[in-house]
Amino acid sequence: MNFDFDLVVNSFPLLLLGAGVTVQITALSVGFGLLIGMFVGIARLSQVKLVKFLATVYVDFIRGTPLLVQIFLIYFALPMIIGQRIDPFIAAITACSVNSGAYVAEIFRAGIQSIDKGQMEAGRSLGMTWTQTMRFIILPQAFKRIIPPLGNEFIAMLKDSSLVSVIGFEELTRRGQLIIARTYGSFEIWLTVAFIYLVMTLTISRLVDYLERRYKIDDKH
Ligand code: ARG
Repeated sequence: MNFDFDLVVNSFPLLLLGAGVTVQITALSVGFGLLIGMFVGIARLSQVKLVKFLATVYVDFIRGTPLLVQIFLIYFALPMIIGQRIDPFIAAITACSVNSGAYVAEIFRAGIQSIDKGQMEAGRSLGMTWTQTMRFIILPQAFKRIIPPLGNEFIAMLKDSSLVSVIGFEELTRRGQLIIARTYGSFEIWLTVAFIYLVMTLTISRLVDYLERRYKIDDKH
């Protein structure tokens, strides 16, 4: 078998465009996921039974069903209820954000629970409310601890975002498929696609390492 190097060179710009879109979906999804996850993570620790129950149902449902099925639910099933088609971009971001939110919620919950409970008691005994103590004492400390798992979530989402290719959304994987449909260069293109994903994930993990080190040093002061 010949390795068609020209094909790799010629397809590279198109694949890079796809990679840009992949980074976009990932960043937006993890960004929204962070917002959802922070509230749901705190809700999971709530004393109010109903709030805790709803948060648990959400996390269980999302983590207990495949992201692929969630994408189908949002892109194909939801339009039947709202009577209107959903743009693949919106569907992709929604599915990935809602998915990421559940994983981030567990990260937040674990991070908050890892902070000594004396911190909450100290805040409360100084006259701060539960919310104030959470906001000013617990969360700032928890944030530092959850940087590594959040980095993992970012990497996981970057790879799992390839699933939105099934609804025709043109990120990196879908671009690869389309180029192969035209050129039959499965070997060259999939190898290049894998390589681009690898460069992106390695870059993120180095960045997370750096952030982790930086905050560790800060902790000593
Ligand atoms: N692979 C798992 C699934 O198909 C998780 C997908 C989402 N991953 C994530 N870290 N948000 O459901």
